[in-house]
Amino acid sequence: NQNSLTQKLIPIIDKLSNVIYEQNLNSGVDSDDLIDLPNITVIGSQSSGKSSILETLVGKDFLPRGTGIVTRRPLVLQLCNIKETDIAVLDLDHSDLDAQQENNFGEISLEEHLKRTNDNYQRSSNTKPLMEWGEFLHYPGKRFFNFGDIRKEIEKETFRIAGKNKGISNNPINLKIYSPNVVNLTLVDLPGITKVPIGEQPADIEAQIKNLIYDYISKPNCIILAVSPANQDLVNSESLKFARDVDPLGKRTIGVITKLDLMDDGTNALDILTGNVYPLKLGFVGVVNRSQQDVNTNKSVKESLEKEKKFFMQHSAYKTIANKCGTKYLGEKLSSILMNHIKEKLPDLKAKISFLINQTEQDLSQLGYDEDENNLLENKPGLILQLMNNFAKNFVSSIEGTSTNI
Ligand code: GDP
Ligand code: NA
Ligand code: MG
Repeated sequence: NQNSLTQKLIPIIDKLSNVIYEQNLNSGVDSDDLIDLPNITVIGSQSSGKSSILETLVGKDFLPRGTGIVTRRPLVLQLCNIKETDIAVLDLDHSDLDAQQENNFGEISLEEHLKRTNDNYQRSSNTKPLMEWGEFLHYPGKRFFNFGDIRKEIEKETFRIAGKNKGISNNPINLKIYSPNVVNLTLVDLPGITKVPIGEQPADIEAQIKNLIYDYISKPNCIILAVSPANQDLVNSESLKFARDVDPLGKRTIGVITKLDLMDDGTNALDILTGNVYPLKLGFVGVVNRSQQDVNTNKSVKESLEKEKKFFMQHSAYKTIANKCGTKYLGEKLSSILMNHIKEKLPDLKAKISFLINQTEQDLSQLGYDEDENNLLENKPGLILQLMNNFAKNFVSSIEGTSTNI
């Protein structure tokens, strides 16, 4: 049964990426050595609305956004779905509940426990209830419960590595978001495509950003979200040009048209959205993100999703396709594409994994690993990480070696 296999594979991929994440925490290896799990990468010209889309997909305000070049380092954003029960366990592990409360946990309801824990958190650190939080790779052990603080930390980290004046860096910021309200996805936000250097940007800024984008989107496991603003002609779309270079058949590219609310009166993008202008196997989705005005007045994600829905349902050109428009639909489409992507690789994955497990066991015994003594971890921490890394790399080459059809 493919479906239940997929259900099982998702946590395995998550575990694998956790291993890699931990390993990077411990060894500080170069980002080139990160393995390529399936991810969704957003590309597009500057201020086309890339960061805005990601924020709405996640359902939280936490990304620096705005006119001009704001995103100046890749942001690798790993969304981790946690269940209420996971949260309870995490609470017990990490909260400063006193022993008395902990002992009582067996006799109180989960709801009551969460309430007490959250009260406890609110008393002790004045933060929101312990339901969703972010963690940065560069800031191990610190949980950010306030999403405004996450944005500040991203800005700080951007300044630290890429300077204060518009420079860019290909050194990524890695952020994990834990929440019961997200699907397990890895999303990558990239700097926008630019032509002319400004501020501290070097003369070859265009080539630098190009290389950076190709680094991410050329990987067969990358699903490309190619963003084009509706108020510019699609023939000039840089994102579609980039995507076509690495995915000529358009098998792993989704077109996203932003700023539909900013089109000239009397014009619309219906032809584009219905696939009559540019052929893309996975099609186009139209969205309306928050405007700069909405950002300035702190319009919430929820409000903006409602406004977006209304926009499509009431628009004379889009109301017939309103159920296939908007950020919510885009999120659902992305999850199902990712599922299919993983499903398709399942048979090869299974074979390769059992092969690799055998091989790893052989490697271990050749290295003198004695299962009874079980002392390898203690004596040779570097070695076991090395083996895990090899395992993970082979695992991924096995994914990449197979067909990339979605
Ligand atoms: P990025 O540079 O591609 O990441 O773009 P941002 O997400 O930072 O957005 C750039 C600016 O365009 C911000 O001021 C957004 O509020 C605005 N913006 C993005 N998408 C839309 C949209 O669909 N409609 C309107 N009106 N404004 C948008
Ligand atoms: Na921008
Ligand atoms: Mg951005």
